Amino acid sequence: MRDIKVRLGKRTYCIKIGSSILSKTGKYILRLSIGQNAIIITNSKIKRLYGSILEKSLAKSGISYSLFTVPDSESSKSYTVMDDLIGKIAMADKGKKPFIIAFGGGVIGDLAGFVAAVYRRGVPLVQIPTTLVAQVDSAIGGKVAIDLPVAKNLMGAFYQPKIVIADTSLLKTLPAREIKCGLSEIIKYSIISSRGFFGFLSKKITSLKRMRGKEVKYVIRKCCSIKAGVVNADEKDTKGIRMILNYGHTIGHAIEAASGYKGSYNHGEAVAIGMLAAASISRKINMISEKEVGEIRKLLSRAGLPAKARRFKSSKIFESLSHDKKFTQGINRFVLPVRIGKVRVVKNIPKDIIMDAIKEITA
Ligand code: NAD
Ligand code: GLY
Repeated sequence: MRDIKVRLGKRTYCIKIGSSILSKTGKYILRLSIGQNAIIITNSKIKRLYGSILEKSLAKSGISYSLFTVPDSESSKSYTVMDDLIGKIAMADKGKKPFIIAFGGGVIGDLAGFVAAVYRRGVPLVQIPTTLVAQVDSAIGGKVAIDLPVAKNLMGAFYQPKIVIADTSLLKTLPAREIKCGLSEIIKYSIISSRGFFGFLSKKITSLKRMRGKEVKYVIRKCCSIKAGVVNADEKDTKGIRMILNYGHTIGHAIEAASGYKGSYNHGEAVAIGMLAAASISRKINMISEKEVGEIRKLLSRAGLPAKARRFKSSKIFESLSHDKKFTQGINRFVLPVRIGKVRVVKNIPKDIIMDAIKEITA
């Protein structure tokens, strides 16, 4: 199957999608001429499940490696974990310029990507996403970051990988909750860009929840090509194009921050609730019909995603919102659906409308 390309001039790279391609990693990396010294960053679960396939593949291609694990939690996207990791990498690097392999879900990808961006002022990065969220979203496009206590992803960089290797067979061990989180981002792509894709997802949602059938690879490819197109058009998020990928993320990130990144709502769940809140804001300002909001609610619910973040006070979520990167100089910005398949960035939503939407998702 043809690779998908993220076209960024000299920084153009391929997204490889296929079943059982992890074992070809060494071969793919050799073609990139990024050196023979790998630093693998992962967690102990992924190491136990798939570490030996990756290690064998690197060894077969003559690539030496050191492997470091971080705790399996959003809280690994922190300054403390990053500091500890960079210290260990510096001890292991022995003067040879390494490249970094981010081997895991979005947490590992964002953390390891940020380490790659800053270590020695930047070393090459290979993304090997192992969750559905990471394969359709976080491993692509170069946004890398760690969280600060006040808000998510506040310390970060744009740092593109040299390649993304998405082995769909790794998804067979993904817990059901994580599959649903991936479906949340997948549904997001359909709402921001394609009514037809939304219809396809509505038809296939039951089999997609089981990650069975040929539609899984189709859906991953489709999302990667939507994201690649957006990133090609607005890599650094300065033209108002890339911002559409943040549909559901404004209130979603506030929910994650309000939970202290402890996982009461993980990323995909928080985004699902955030998408409903944004749809509700859009309805309140008469931008979208009640019928379309109902369709969005129904598909998210059929995917098994939550509609409410009942554990938090609406005031706490509102407080977390003010630290969002999309809010600059006191002006709020929301990505709101106009209809299924089309979103628009809207500024200066009145506070009482935002509060009403937050109250709905916390009631
Ligand atoms: P995650 O990285 O926490 O992974 C979820 C869980 O699945 C973890 O427990 C992990 O160990 C486990 N896991 C991973 N691969 C597995 C496999 N193949 N089999 C079994 N278990 C496996 O969560 P995530 O949803 O992948 O990522 C969420 C993070 O990604 C958030 O921090 C979010 O902010 C970030 N994100 C970033 C971007 C971006 O553009 N950079 C986009 C979307 C999300
Ligand atoms: N996940 C949002 C972006 O990549 O821009």
